[in-house]
Amino acid sequence: MLLTQDPPRAGHEIDPAFRRDILDGLSHIPKATPPLWFYDRRGSELFEAITDLPEYYPTRTETALLERCGDEFAEAIGPGRAVIEFGAGSARKTPHLLRAVDPAAYVPIDISGDFLHLSSRALSSAFPDLPVLPLVGDFHQELTLPAAIAGQPRLGFFPGSTVGNMEPDAAVNLLRAMRRLLEDGAMLLIGMDRIKDERRLIAAYDDAAGVTADFNLNLVARINRELDGDLPLDGFAHRAIWNDDKARIEMHLQAVRPLHFHVAGQCFNMAAGETIHTESSHKYGPRDARLLLRAGGWEPVREWSDEEGLFSLILAEAA
Ligand code: AVI
Repeated sequence: MLLTQDPPRAGHEIDPAFRRDILDGLSHIPKATPPLWFYDRRGSELFEAITDLPEYYPTRTETALLERCGDEFAEAIGPGRAVIEFGAGSARKTPHLLRAVDPAAYVPIDISGDFLHLSSRALSSAFPDLPVLPLVGDFHQELTLPAAIAGQPRLGFFPGSTVGNMEPDAAVNLLRAMRRLLEDGAMLLIGMDRIKDERRLIAAYDDAAGVTADFNLNLVARINRELDGDLPLDGFAHRAIWNDDKARIEMHLQAVRPLHFHVAGQCFNMAAGETIHTESSHKYGPRDARLLLRAGGWEPVREWSDEEGLFSLILAEAA
């Protein structure tokens, strides 16, 4: 997940979707905003820094699986598929998969054209014989795949446990949309983070160096800059909470004192201790993961996990 949107400069238009989501989210009881808005340029940089933190095991563990299990991917998936990656490909993860499955084409999909074209150029030079066909778009909306891959069997690649940032109903809808887009005969390789010891989970989302806190608090700075807000930066504290009932880590911005502020001309109040719920990161037991995939139109066929069972890569077939 990496977007590199530039902040609007003076005189530039406000993103109406950002304005709507933040005003709706702050008016909601309890207050909650979609995680999508973390990823301005600074937020994307902070997320990259999170992926290198000692406490943040998902990226490291998934990358090691991709690196280590290449022969097994080759055997289970076979060559000659068009690989469709949902979300910007991380320079670290994608090459391992492409090397293993010897694809006919690679179609990375991302909402940020700038980042997509940069990473596509890097992949083209690493795989000079591979047609790389970047597609700028939001994979939560209807998309049309490039005509050049018509008739080729597809492998969807959705790494990073990004699916975990969606509510279960939205996750099922997205998996179903992927199933429609990739068509009959498709496979999907998806990264899903596992339920584990609560302390380990909390540490991953509330690291000692405070990078995740900065990532969360950057949303406050973004609201102030882009939506003419006056939220006090020192009025909020980062909180990471394990919600056992819903099997998810929740990130919140908690008011450290009573707050009164404005966003886009509207007034808001928060009591001391009240929070804005900024992100959920769902974790899955092995059966939960398989059930979610089945509900989304995918039949799981194989699974890879690290020795500690921290993170899984699941291969599924279009049902
Ligand atoms: C992008 N996504 C899968 C990350 C996660 O782990 O839920 C976002 C993140 N939020 C805090 N740290 C990382």
